[in-house]
Amino acid sequence: KQQIVPLSEITGFTTKSEEFSPYAWYQKMLAENPIYYHPGTDTWNVFKYEDVKRVLTDYHLFSNRRTRTLINVGVGTEEANIPNRINIINTDPPEHRKARSLLSAAFTPRSLKAWEPRIQQVVHDLIRDMGDKSELDIVKEFTTPLPIIIMADLLGVPHRDKLLFKEWVDILFLPFHAENAEEVNKRKGEAALAYFQYLYPFVVAKRSQPADDIISDLIQAEYEGERFTDEEIVSMTMFILGAGIETTSHFLASSFYSFLYDDPALYAEVRNNIDLVPNLVEEMLRYRFHISKMDRMVTEDNDVLGVELKKGDLVIAWMSAANMDKDVFEDPFTLNIHRENSNRHQTFGNGPHFCLGAPLARLESTIAIKTFVETFSRIEPVPGFDLEANLQPSAPGQSLSSLPMKVWR
Ligand code: HEM
Repeated sequence: KQQIVPLSEITGFTTKSEEFSPYAWYQKMLAENPIYYHPGTDTWNVFKYEDVKRVLTDYHLFSNRRTRTLINVGVGTEEANIPNRINIINTDPPEHRKARSLLSAAFTPRSLKAWEPRIQQVVHDLIRDMGDKSELDIVKEFTTPLPIIIMADLLGVPHRDKLLFKEWVDILFLPFHAENAEEVNKRKGEAALAYFQYLYPFVVAKRSQPADDIISDLIQAEYEGERFTDEEIVSMTMFILGAGIETTSHFLASSFYSFLYDDPALYAEVRNNIDLVPNLVEEMLRYRFHISKMDRMVTEDNDVLGVELKKGDLVIAWMSAANMDKDVFEDPFTLNIHRENSNRHQTFGNGPHFCLGAPLARLESTIAIKTFVETFSRIEPVPGFDLEANLQPSAPGQSLSSLPMKVWR
């Protein structure tokens, strides 16, 4: 059983908005405290690009087998003792390789190509449903439902159940605080169990009647003669869901926030040159995605980061801060979609655990932003929008719960 480290104690932000745009804090930490020991949580925090990379890639010294961690999504609690033989998160190579290979079966370039028209269709439908309104809540009408519908579709479960998915994912991503850890853990366990019971029959059915979807791909996946059991497939899809929904919707919502508030001239520029979208996505991943941070446990005493680390120490790699390192990105605190190395960001991680869904996230985001920009000629903020009141905490940071905007077709 892993103990949860409350991240908010490390940053000490006093407002949600500060956490949503933590540039000043990153700048200060990068300049003054690039390797920062925080006594309250007993954690080492690293911010520089190369240090973050070292922590994420050097799995011999920095392990995913942890007794403490930042995020727990409820798999393996007492309420939901879901089989964990194949575990992709809490393992290192070579053991990790098996789970990774089996799961990769669902994310081949071939499947990505097959998904493209399905993603495009979902995006079209959502935009069509906006009708001819002149004001939208982009979070409620687009960025939240989009990844849920896409994941439900790719997993091969009915659309009508997509709200259930949203409910579970919201609970699985609830943040922990010292006062409510037990209650939150219990709710997460219950949600995980409900999800498990919902999905299990689909897996059993697809074993005899495979279709063109992720669950069927996972059923057929094989690694050194081993295959997933039905239960493992359910727990794998739960993980994919957790990994793929919250992140993508957070990313898309933040990108629209950026269009409205970070650089109001950007939308028109992209509308005039739609080919800029793929690089815009990379730059937004670098500049506007602030929930990327991962923890690793030190396996043996070492000083590879220039400080004395002891076996068992917990190290937090702040990828979103590393994306602001001036040694790698020129003028890092400026949003610049013409930047040539935006895609060196570490938002998707680095090393053996590099995000398996990155190609899907990129494809989904590119199609979503492109289609939206092609449809609407202009967008503007709604006067009086209160950012602070429209942020909600999720396990890794602050996410927009609503973002109203005026639109013109
Ligand atoms: C792992 C970020 C979307 C599936 C990761 C990791 C990061 C990340 C940072 C590495 C974790 C670590 O080092 O321990 C993101 C971001 C996304 C996104 C920023 C969207 C903007 C997705 C999507 C899927 C997905 C859409 C699948 C549908 C996974 C999986 C892993 C992973 C399976 C585990 C890989 C492993 O441990 O070997 N993601 N992700 N992600 N992600 Fe994503």
